[in-house]
Amino acid sequence: MSQLATNKHISQETSRKVLYVHLAPGDNIATCLKDWQVVQANSVNEAQLALDSNRFQVALAHIGKLNDKQRGDLERLVENAPPLNWIALIEPEYLNNDITNELIYDYFFDYYTLPLKDKAPYLCATLGHAWGLGRLREQEDDLRRYREECQMVGASPAIRLVFSQIRKVAGVDATVLITGSSGTGKELIARAIHQRSQRCKGPFVALNCGALPENLIQAELFGHEKGAFTGAHCRKIGRIEAAGGGTLFLDEIGDLPLSLQVNLLRFLQEETIERLGGNETLYIDARVIAATHRNLEAEIREGVFREDLYYRLNVLSIEVPDLKEREGDIELLANFFFRKFTEGRHHRVRGFSRRAIAAMNCHDWPGNVREMINRVRKAIVMSENRLITAADLGLGGTQDQVVPTLEEARNLAERQAIRRSLKKTGNNVSLAAKLLGVSRVTLYRLMEKHQLANVR
Ligand SMILES: Nc1ncnc2c1ncn2[C@@H]1O[C@H](COP(=O)(O)OP(=O)(O)O)[C@@H](O)[C@H]1O
Ligand SMILES: [Mg+2]
Repeated sequence: MSQLATNKHISQETSRKVLYVHLAPGDNIATCLKDWQVVQANSVNEAQLALDSNRFQVALAHIGKLNDKQRGDLERLVENAPPLNWIALIEPEYLNNDITNELIYDYFFDYYTLPLKDKAPYLCATLGHAWGLGRLREQEDDLRRYREECQMVGASPAIRLVFSQIRKVAGVDATVLITGSSGTGKELIARAIHQRSQRCKGPFVALNCGALPENLIQAELFGHEKGAFTGAHCRKIGRIEAAGGGTLFLDEIGDLPLSLQVNLLRFLQEETIERLGGNETLYIDARVIAATHRNLEAEIREGVFREDLYYRLNVLSIEVPDLKEREGDIELLANFFFRKFTEGRHHRVRGFSRRAIAAMNCHDWPGNVREMINRVRKAIVMSENRLITAADLGLGGTQDQVVPTLEEARNLAERQAIRRSLKKTGNNVSLAAKLLGVSRVTLYRLMEKHQLANVR
């Protein structure tokens, strides 16, 4: 392996590095790559060594006529390498081969035919783009690793507010009420609070109050002594008791029957319970986090939820936004789940088509993140394409083309115009305001309305 001397003076941090895998006879084009630090490998093995000891965003593979073994070796190299953009260099006559074409189509970012001659500057431009995209992916990956700490993905202002609330709430040992539509991540948030709290070494015990009939919930929550009722063959510890020293997560608290609301309130006030059929009073140190998709204030007005319990639960509160309100998170989450479900296995499917992303951004996501998981998982299995289409996701059908209200359409157009003007002027608000024909003050107000701080 030879490290070409063209621009060794450029430091590791600032120079752009390219791996040049030279697998076919013919000109060495490395000298054309001015301003690039070229690491050359003359075999697949050498390339593997280079990949093991360097971090590349982009690689050039000079390929000729490939036999089955060479093709297999190259495929394995590309598949096992960390994500980077590959560009093929190939003589035009080898492009008549289906196997080679498929290889390029499946694995490569772009290709150039040889001899390069006056195409060299174009190749350099393509390399630059591929490198830039690689950098973006790397930054996104770093961000992703950070966000996955609490297993929650999101970068929108709406979800960042939730992240900061999780951090605050985790530091205080009080009851929390989490509200939000189904599938928005309420349980995940409850777990994140527990994991970040001083109780993290204790148990996290969850109970769905809507899933069981009244008599069973009572036994589940408080436990029972042997013989407390027909069928109680032995003593059973309830969920509250099991959560001692940790956190009790009561999901769908709005479904808890009125009669049991009193019992729960008593536990919250006195921190004691009695098992059903028992007369011993037990002190239990469990933090309660409750969640509901219902509007509890309306339930109170209707007389189906106790006001005193509501106030006792709602000491701290987190409101989880619907997925459609999380600007930019749809694509982030879709890619996150795509990678999660394809990780470690080679899949024919490479990602989402632009139309699929657009369709996801237009969709209303009534089932929120849970719906996203289901659609992406199904699309990966069902897709016959390299890129998942809107149809694979079950989107873009007529039932999905909801006509927006005029107000929604106006808002969208306003937002797009502002984004474009800011992008065009490099975030120069005065210039952007001029382009849009409004005053700077108006533009600032509109940017705030649309939560557009700066547009890249
Ligand atoms: N921000 C997020 N990032 C990654 N996964 C998420 C996110 N929000 C929700 N999920 C996943 O979506 C699914 C539904 O979340 P869940 O917490 O059960 O919702 P809810 O309790 O509000 O109905 C779960 O599999 C959860 O792990
Ligand atoms: Mg839930």
